[in-house]
Amino acid sequence: QLIDKGNHRHFMQKEIYEQPVVVAQTLRSYLSRIDARVSLPIPEFDLGAIRRVTIVACGTSYYAGMVAKYWFEQFARVPVDLDFASEFRYRAPVMEDGGLALFISQSGETADTLAALRHARGEGQKIAVVVNVPSSTMARESDLLLPTHAGPEIGVASTKAFACQLAVLAALAANLARAKGRLSPEEERDIVRHLEETPAALNAALANDPAIEAMAHVIAGARDVLYLGRGTDYPLALEGALKLKEISYIHAEGYAAGEMKHGPIALIDENVPVIVIAPSGPLFEKTVSNMQEVQARGGKVVLISDAEGIAQAGEGCLATIEMPKVHPLIAPLVYAVPVQLLAYHVAVAKGTDVDQPRNLAKSVTVE
Ligand code: G6P
Repeated sequence: QLIDKGNHRHFMQKEIYEQPVVVAQTLRSYLSRIDARVSLPIPEFDLGAIRRVTIVACGTSYYAGMVAKYWFEQFARVPVDLDFASEFRYRAPVMEDGGLALFISQSGETADTLAALRHARGEGQKIAVVVNVPSSTMARESDLLLPTHAGPEIGVASTKAFACQLAVLAALAANLARAKGRLSPEEERDIVRHLEETPAALNAALANDPAIEAMAHVIAGARDVLYLGRGTDYPLALEGALKLKEISYIHAEGYAAGEMKHGPIALIDENVPVIVIAPSGPLFEKTVSNMQEVQARGGKVVLISDAEGIAQAGEGCLATIEMPKVHPLIAPLVYAVPVQLLAYHVAVAKGTDVDQPRNLAKSVTVE
C-alpha cells in the first residue's frame, strides 16, 4: 500500500488534519446512533465483573491511558492503576482476581508493552487492548480487542492514533460506567451526543493553524518550554511537552499546574514560554491563579482556552489560542490539536526532520 502526503508537506501535518475523519470513523464502531448508546465490538464481554483496571503503555499511548484513568475513576468509580510498560513488571504489581489489564499501543508491537501484557496474563488478568494495527501481536493476544481506526500512521510522533485512542477510551469509560450501574440512559444519551460533536470540534480546533504558525518562531527561539494543565489537561500538558521534545529538540516539561509552585516555578523568567491548557470550567480559576504566578515572574504565557476563558484571563498573555467550547469529556481530544500544531510548526521553523526525528523509532521492539 502506497501512502502519500497528499497536499501536505509532512506526514505529521497530514495526520493532524485527518483527525476529524478518523475519529468519526473510530467512533462509528463504538456508538449506536439509533438508540443513543455506547457499545463495544464484543458486546458479551462482562465489564460489570471488572473490579480494578490496570492501564499499561508507553510514550503517547501512555498519556492517552492517563486521561482514561481520570475518566474510568470519575464515571465508573472503578479504581485504576497506571504504569509505563517498562516499569510495570519490575514493581511487582498486586493483581487480584476480577482485574482488567488494559494495554494501549498504536503499533501493537512495542516490546515493553507486549512483555507487560504477557506478565498480566500470567497473573490471571483479563486482557484488553486498544491498538491501531488489528493484525498485531497484542491484538492476537487479547480477550477484548478495541481497535482504533486511525489508518496507517507514518510520522514518528503520534497524533491521529492518540486522538482515536482517546475516542475508544471515552467509549470504554461510558460502557464501564453503564455496566457498573453508574450511567442513566439520559446521561448515556448525553455522552453519545457529545462524542458525536467531536469531529466538528476538531475542525474548529484546526482553524487555529495559521495563528499557531504565526507564533511558532517565538517558541522556536526558546531553550526550555513549560506546559501546564490540571485534571485531564495535565496528561495533555505532558503530551504537548513530549511532542515538542520529539520533533523540535527543545527541552520541554509538562507539569500539573498546581504542582508548579513546588519546583518548576524556579525556572520561570522572560525566556521560558509557558503553555497553559485550560478550558473554562470548574478547574479554570485554579489553573489561572497558577498562570498568574508565572506572569508575576515575567514568564510569557500562551493560553489555550475557549472564548469564555480567554475573555476572563487572556490579558497579558503573549498569545491566546481560542478553542471551541466543548464538553469536558471531549476536551482532551480537541485540545490535543493545538499542542500538536505548535510542536509541528516549531519543528518546521527550526528545520528539523519532522517525520523522522533523530534517535526515535516509530515502533520500539527492544526492551
Ligand atoms: C515510540 C513512538 C511514539 C509512541 C511510542 C509507543 O516511542 O515514537 O510515537 O507513542 O513508541 O508506541 P505504541 O505503538 O506502543 O503506541
